[in-house]
Amino acid sequence: MTKTPMTLDIDTRRTEHSRIAEIDWNHLPFGRIYSDHMMMMDFRGGAWQKPAIVPFGPVSLHPGNATLHYGQSIFEGMKAIRGHDGRITLFRPELNARRFNESCQRLCMPGIPEDTFIELVKAHARFERDWVPANDNAALYLRPFIFATDEALGVRPSETYKFMILSCPAGAYYAEPLSVKIEERYTRAAEGGVGRAKTAGNYAASLLPTKLANDEGFQQLIWTDGKEHKYIEESGTMNVVFVIDGTLITPSEDSDTILRSVVKRSVVDLAKHWGIPVQERRISVEEVIAAIREGRLDDAFGAGTAATIAPIARIGFRGEIFDLPPVAGRVVSKRIKTYLDGIKHGDVPDELNWGVEI
Ligand code: COI
Repeated sequence: MTKTPMTLDIDTRRTEHSRIAEIDWNHLPFGRIYSDHMMMMDFRGGAWQKPAIVPFGPVSLHPGNATLHYGQSIFEGMKAIRGHDGRITLFRPELNARRFNESCQRLCMPGIPEDTFIELVKAHARFERDWVPANDNAALYLRPFIFATDEALGVRPSETYKFMILSCPAGAYYAEPLSVKIEERYTRAAEGGVGRAKTAGNYAASLLPTKLANDEGFQQLIWTDGKEHKYIEESGTMNVVFVIDGTLITPSEDSDTILRSVVKRSVVDLAKHWGIPVQERRISVEEVIAAIREGRLDDAFGAGTAATIAPIARIGFRGEIFDLPPVAGRVVSKRIKTYLDGIKHGDVPDELNWGVEI
């Protein structure tokens, strides 16, 4: 467990009307309940200004705001988790800090030094520590994001930006094992595009295909590559992992079409640490379907910060529904989830030093 003292100078203003007493901690929908405060930091004149934690509330925007017109906006997803010993930790925040800056670079936005990014997130989580749920299946979901604030309609990188952190006490994103459809018509990302960046437009583009899949009874899509629709990429809100013939297989992140998931990276790291065979490579839809038909697919799950480890129960492909092995009997995803939950709650030793106390 790493501990870093707060070093940043942050203005703070407390709300006079906390909403915390109104929260039903046993019913925490994802991303709808906001904590009392938010972090804000402006970029202008080529430099980040002093950050401030202020009461949560609306932000006023000029109608010509560059983000509204051209989508220069990126975000991160993180969780602050309360352990059974009362300590509050973040999970591998350095990976979020790195991805945030990679996304900024792709979208022509000013990054934030990784240490500063982590300190800002920690400072915000410390300020809102009473909002970190004590129940096991919940966390304070943290949403750092940055958007352009220039007020001009020319298409060019904005010269001003706002960085913010919101936080939501939240339960599971998916309450049930998932039914997913392999998408062959629509494309999430093309080589050379922005698929690797955690940018708002990727999610906007996913809405229609996801809605069409929802209408067919699926909760999510599994995206395939934009060129041939032959290889599996990721799911809408998480990355995907399969266990076939005892080997954990997941699409490699070498291409610039797949988001670099923190939880998926941890699944891979953990499997290697435990000696489970791992392959990060291209994986074709054909291979997955053949493995299901031949009874060689042992496990399939999504991995993401919001989704955590989300078992996939059914896969739809070209009008056929494939039921996967019963979730109760899955060995690998269960072991991984139990371990990750265990370290987050301080129940098992954090062998790989992933927890960072706020
Ligand atoms: C996360 O897992 O934090 C995400 O960003 C997914 C989100 C779109 C729900």
